[in-house]
Amino acid sequence: MEPSSVSPHTPAGVGDNRLKVLEATMKRNQYRPDALIEVLHKAQELFGFLSPTLLISIARSLHLPPSRVYGVATFYHFFSLAPQGTHTCTICLGTACYVKGADSLVTAAERAVGVRVGNTTVDGKLSLTSARCFGACGIAPAVIVDNGMIGHTAPADLAARLVALLASPSED
Ligand code: FES
Repeated sequence: MEPSSVSPHTPAGVGDNRLKVLEATMKRNQYRPDALIEVLHKAQELFGFLSPTLLISIARSLHLPPSRVYGVATFYHFFSLAPQGTHTCTICLGTACYVKGADSLVTAAERAVGVRVGNTTVDGKLSLTSARCFGACGIAPAVIVDNGMIGHTAPADLAARLVALLASPSED
């Protein structure tokens, strides 16, 4: 039986392989319903939070009722169902990106926005997070800012981009 795949309507930008990485995680677990927690962890690691669309897609892929998936996602405090900040910056710390200097990106980003990875700026404008692999190792080091993938990222460029984001008015 062919398992259903993750919906293309899940939030993702052009060149964004996060859905493929999530799909690979589910496939490795043979789309078993008991892999739900692992899959939710992976989804949060990739996207920073679990949107309703993402939860529904996961439910479909794992052959679980959406209510069950939603229930598990809300039960555990380490799952977040909404982005903390208006903007998000996720720095990949996977091996390929690390080798290409992801740690320098972390340092530059933390200095630029004034919070450590895993936190949101006090004005609620930006959440700084990390992930383990976007499936875009060929353009390492990779960063995703507001669902837009940036490859071959230079620390100074990332810092400038984040400072500009913080200075700009909020937008939809
Ligand atoms: S290790 Fe960063 S995209 Fe794969």
